[in-house]
Amino acid sequence: MNRPVHVLGIESSCDETSAAVIRDGRVVLSNVIASQVDIHEAFGGVVPEVASRQHVLAIVPTIKRALTQAGITWSDVDCVAPTYGPGLIGALLVGLNAAKGIAFARDLPLVGVNHLEGHIYANWLTGAEIVFPTVCLIVSGAHTDLVLMTGHNAYRILGRTRDDAAGEAFDKVARILGLGYPGGPAIQKLAAQGDSTKLKLPRAWLGDSYDFSFSGLKTAVLRVAEGLVPEAGLTRADVAASFQESVVDVLVTKTKRAAEEFGVQQVLLAGGVAANAMLRAEMDRQIGRPVIYPPLSLCTDNAAMIAAAGYYRYQSGYRSGLDLDAHANLPLA
Ligand code: KG4
Ligand code: ZN
Repeated sequence: MNRPVHVLGIESSCDETSAAVIRDGRVVLSNVIASQVDIHEAFGGVVPEVASRQHVLAIVPTIKRALTQAGITWSDVDCVAPTYGPGLIGALLVGLNAAKGIAFARDLPLVGVNHLEGHIYANWLTGAEIVFPTVCLIVSGAHTDLVLMTGHNAYRILGRTRDDAAGEAFDKVARILGLGYPGGPAIQKLAAQGDSTKLKLPRAWLGDSYDFSFSGLKTAVLRVAEGLVPEAGLTRADVAASFQESVVDVLVTKTKRAAEEFGVQQVLLAGGVAANAMLRAEMDRQIGRPVIYPPLSLCTDNAAMIAAAGYYRYQSGYRSGLDLDAHANLPLA
């Protein structure tokens, strides 16, 4: 029997310090997340400099815990896979430099991972059999990309947001409605008590394009919230419900069209907004083929997904040098 391959993933692109050990690309042995959400909540969003400092404090204990919880020692680790972009540059540097230090000290291969690729590979941790080509919708706090994946690490971007990301829209609308950070879960909760039929908010279809736009929707919510467009008997919950419905409608309709055009057997969801219950339910109802999405804990930022993506790169022979640098705007394809 072959010896198992253990990848140590390290993630620090935004406000979660995370380290994870994955066996053979698909089994999560540990996934430790030191969240900074409570710290940033007071500011209504992530403060980059504060995030970097918290990563510095958390990175070493988080990596040590990931190994302990996985029940392995350093000699069992085959590869170190850190996120090197996209993300906050100061935050990325902390995880990347920790990974480089480990790779150098222990003479281990270093495999840099794109954070968005990590979100996609969270789907490989579900146990589902994934068949190429597949269409993947990545919806996070900073990105909204519709991607055709033709093989491991092979991507074609079909469309992306022209302004705000879907998660960013959730966060901004939550702020407008006086809800906390992060906005997505808060909007989802409030929307459950609202009636979306009381307010019709706009949808940016952008013709035949697979691109997205959410800034007009956000402005429309702002107008309603400021009372510039008086709506009788409207509650904040109704606005939240109508907003969520508008975002989900556009995401599902464009993803369905792409799935049909490229004749894929399955659709993958990825990123923090993939945790949204209405998005999952409407995808399941409308897409007309299996929709795979990660468990809630693997939708938002975590190192298990980074290690999973790193495993497939490692197996394909890909290696990064110790001169690997962090890239705030690293593209997926
Ligand atoms: O992927 P992620 O953890 O971080 C980035 O890479 O950006 O995504 C965070 C985003 C935030 O904008 C958050 O509001 C959103 O995901 N989010 C949700 C939900 N849970 C998290 N959006 C809608 N519904 C949710 N349940
Ligand atoms: Zn993310």
